[in-house]
Amino acid sequence: MRIFSDIEAGGSDGSSVEIADPRERIRTNLAGVGATIALASARGGVGKSMLAVNIAAALATKGRKVAIVDADLNSPSVLAMLGMKPQRRYPMLEGIEPAAGPHGLRVVSSDQLPGGEPPPISFAQDPEDGANGQVPAAPAPTRPAELSYRAAVSRMLAQSQFGSVDLLIIDLASGLDRLSSLASMMTLAGVLLLTHTSTQDTIATRNAMKIIGALGVPVVGIVENMVGFNCDGCRAVRPLWPEGDLHGIAHEANVPILGRLAFEPRLADSTDHGVLFVREYASTPTGKVLAEIANQLETIVAARTRAVATPAS
Ligand SMILES: Nc1ncnc2c1ncn2[C@@H]1O[C@H](COP(=O)(O)OP(=O)(O)OP(=O)(O)O)[C@@H](O)[C@H]1O
Ligand SMILES: [Mg+2]
Repeated sequence: MRIFSDIEAGGSDGSSVEIADPRERIRTNLAGVGATIALASARGGVGKSMLAVNIAAALATKGRKVAIVDADLNSPSVLAMLGMKPQRRYPMLEGIEPAAGPHGLRVVSSDQLPGGEPPPISFAQDPEDGANGQVPAAPAPTRPAELSYRAAVSRMLAQSQFGSVDLLIIDLASGLDRLSSLASMMTLAGVLLLTHTSTQDTIATRNAMKIIGALGVPVVGIVENMVGFNCDGCRAVRPLWPEGDLHGIAHEANVPILGRLAFEPRLADSTDHGVLFVREYASTPTGKVLAEIANQLETIVAARTRAVATPAS
């Protein structure tokens, strides 16, 4: 299996750029980024990457400049969901050039790193993750040459040439350890939390909100996905699972629910084929919910950014 540092060593100029102070390097590099939002979930496969590409496309359609970092390094899916083929890009001294996606989207993904076909690449968990005791610590990388997840994402954020963008969306792998890593290296405008509505997902989401709160990152909203199945012959949307009290939990935490998405077979199909549902099926109920989630997210993030820029005296 290839590892990130193998790939870096094979860069076009053979060099690797050392980051003395990663947080400062990331802050400087992202100076042209209006706000950064992370998409996270307590459990896997809930629709983060699908939502990331559709929110990005919805906002791009309105003329916003949007970039996406696929920070699910071991199983990146953003490029495929955008209908893009990975073009191997060599890390350069002057930075990593984001791939140009549909509707002007700029995308950085481990899919683009050079090193030949096929992925996966192995990224180790950082031993220092969970040092605050809230997330279980993972074992240290066992292979000396292995670059940690934190170092890999840090370099993607510190070296990618995004230029001026309104919103940077970071699509995370499931679980909060990755969010903990990310929050330690940069200031996030907030986290958009995705969940299914089952009892177990609801419990996991309640716990996730507590952990995210302890990280000092605001949860800007929750999206409920696959709340029911809208089959061809059904007169009404049928529930997919016994539902937990997500609305009660969101209300208690004072976090808005930005949208409820039904299980929509055409969404699964289009996402799988790299077709942007929010564009192709804009007039369907699910298309409208997706666009509305993007609108609300934009409004909330703009309000938060203004509040941070002009603190109450
Ligand atoms: N509302 C929906 N209706 C039908 N299919 C959906 C819906 N939401 C997501 N999917 C499909 O579910 C699958 C999982 O979605 P996705 O990969 O976006 O989840 P994820 O949270 O990013 O997963 P991971 O935790 O592995 O990163 C994909 O095939 C996607 O197209
Ligand atoms: Mg994903």
